[in-house]
This record gives sequence, C-alpha cells and structure tokens, in this order.
Amino acid sequence: MFDPDKFHVTETLHDGSTVEIRAQKPEDRKAILDAIAHASVDTLYHRFFAVKRHLSEKEKHFFFDVDFVNHVVLIAVGNLDGEPRIVGGARFVVTEPGKAEVAFSVVDDFQHHGLGAVLMHHIAAVARDAGIKEFVAEVLSDNVAMLAVFEHSGLITTTRRDGATIHVSMRFPGA
Ligand SMILES: CC(C)(COP(=O)(O)OP(=O)(O)OC[C@H]1O[C@@H](n2cnc3c(N)ncnc32)[C@H](O)[C@@H]1OP(=O)(O)O)[C@@H](O)C(=O)NCCC(=O)NCCS
Repeated sequence: MFDPDKFHVTETLHDGSTVEIRAQKPEDRKAILDAIAHASVDTLYHRFFAVKRHLSEKEKHFFFDVDFVNHVVLIAVGNLDGEPRIVGGARFVVTEPGKAEVAFSVVDDFQHHGLGAVLMHHIAAVARDAGIKEFVAEVLSDNVAMLAVFEHSGLITTTRRDGATIHVSMRFPGA
C-alpha cells in the first residue's frame, strides 16, 4: 500500500534544476490555492477547461481530502525565485476497480522542462503498485504537451476525439 510519508524522490529536469517529488500534505493547501490563483489563463484553461482561479468548497474538498488509496496526489517542489515552491502535481482518482482518471498541472515557469514526464513516471508507478490497469484522461485537443507526455509514458495509449476534447486511455503493459 502507498505510504505518503515514505515517498520522496529527487529528480533532475532538462535545465539541470532539481525537484523533490513527494505526496501532497494537508499543509500544502495554501500554496496550491496560491498557485492556482496566479496561473496563466492558458494553464487554467488546459487544466480546468475554464479560466478558474478560485475553487468552490466542494472542489477544495476533492482537491485536499485525499485518502492515498482511491485518490493519490504527488507534488513537485522546486526552486522558484530562490524559494522552495510547489511547482507541479499529478493525481489519480479510482473510478472503478483497476481504472483511474489521471490529471496533471505544472506551474508556468516550469512547463516544458520535463516535469510533466517525471510526474507521469511516478504517478504511473504508484498506480501500478496499487493494482491500476488503466489510466484515462480528458485533454483539450490543442494540449500538445499533455498528449506527448502520455504518448511517451510507456503505457499503451489510445485516443478518441470528442469535439474539442480527446479522451485518452492508457493501459499498463501486461495488465
Ligand atoms: C501538460 C503539462 C502537465 C505537461 O507538463 P510539462 O512539464 O510542460 O511537460 P514536459 O516538459 O515533460 O514535456 C513532455 C513532452 O511533451 C513535449 N512537449 C512539451 N511541450 C510541447 C510543445 N509545445 N510542442 C510539442 N511537444 C511538446 C516535450 O518535448 C516532451 O516530449 P518528450 O516526452 O518526447 O521529451 C503542463 O504543460 C501543464 O501543466 N499545462 C497546463 C495544465 C494542463 O494542461 N494540465 C493537463 C490537464 S489534462
């Protein structure tokens, strides 16, 4: 079973900077809400399919009351403006036995440095250990970076277009 207190990994990004990947903690709440409040329009639109800077109470409950069994969140802490900051995160939510929906977000200053791929690697490893056999995701069709992360993940990826969104299914090899 995933132990959020024990998961700590250091990774090096394409620009040589390092990030620590760990489980989300309750005390990360303010930093994550601040990151959403300061994200670019483009990032918000691709993450939430809307320009949404503030979460409702129901959404906060979803984002922060994480059980690490049916809902796992990993975050990345990097150096931003000389301070350790939350610079990205990945979550999966089990929707039925063996299947989970996955979602990502990387802060604007850290995008395209390889962090999305690093987060994908670790969230997939945690999911595999938890018995997940398939990830699914809804992605806006112009989200080249997210689709590239999925395609290069090593999972067996199939896509289905549905209007402006692409439904992505990723099966774990051997599952
Ligand atoms: C989507 C997102 C999570 C990807 O994270 P990232 O750290 O920017 O992605 P990476 O730097 O790891 O790039 C991954 C791959 O995409 C490719 N890529 C990134 N941006 C690209 C672009 N604009 N055009 C083509 N390829 C691109 C990279 O070359 C890399 O390819 P590789 O695996 O062959 O090396 C991040 O950009 C983000 O948070 N965007 C806004 C929110 C969002 O879209 N969330 C997803 C909701 S489903």
